Amino acid sequence: MSRRSRIALKTGVWAVGLWPLGFLLWRAWAGSLTANPISFVTNTLGDWTLRLLLASLGMTPLRILFGWSWPVSLRRLLGLFAFACAALHFSVWVVLDHFFDWGTMGADIVKRPYITVGMLALTLLVPLAITSTAGMVRRLGARAWRRLHALVYAIGVLAALHYLWLAKKGVQDPYWYAMVLVLLLGVRLWDRARRLAGRRRRPPLVAPALVVEPPRGSRSRL
Ligand code: HEM
Repeated sequence: MSRRSRIALKTGVWAVGLWPLGFLLWRAWAGSLTANPISFVTNTLGDWTLRLLLASLGMTPLRILFGWSWPVSLRRLLGLFAFACAALHFSVWVVLDHFFDWGTMGADIVKRPYITVGMLALTLLVPLAITSTAGMVRRLGARAWRRLHALVYAIGVLAALHYLWLAKKGVQDPYWYAMVLVLLLGVRLWDRARRLAGRRRRPPLVAPALVVEPPRGSRSRL
């Protein structure tokens, strides 16, 4: 892919990543944050956190299915925007919903399963965001880094559960998001199984170890 196309793609991701904030600022400026602004802001940020998280999770399946390499270069940026959106979503809950009332927030985390899993998803996103730099990949080693970043699948599941648990009866959206997640995880699992099966079928690369040279001077009995 050309340098120009790469820059265009990254610019697109920046535009999408900054969209929720720009949208909310514009609605606030226009005075159209609906009759329940806190709920509107919380839900908009929650929706975008989930979309960006799924977009980030979708980059590897695109490479698997179509052999494109460019999606993988966008994964980190999408993941960081998902984290930023989740942090804002959480901040609205802390500041506007509860106004730093740690007692009721603690009780909510324990009593409401959708808050518990949301909190868990956000907490697990923190080490991924911190270790997203090239320097951290080097410091941790590629293998440990990959293992740590496999947490993103668990985060996806927790985020989908968060939405499924909080949605009112009859609301379809959380099921659509959950279906997309299942599809993305399915592609990854299928790819893994395919590669494992390929490795088992392939003959070993090493030469047979038991080709023993007869000692010098000895005559072969064959
Ligand atoms: C990765 C983490 C998270 C994701 C992906 C996420 C996603 C979502 C989504 C999609 C919604 C529903 C939006 C809608 O109805 O249109 C939502 C709502 C909400 N989330 Fe989260 N969330 C996350 C973390 C959290 C955390 C950490 C908290 C608080 C501790 C939280 C509190 C809430 C609340 C209070 C609502 C509104 C519920 C209502 O309308 O009654 N979320 N979130």
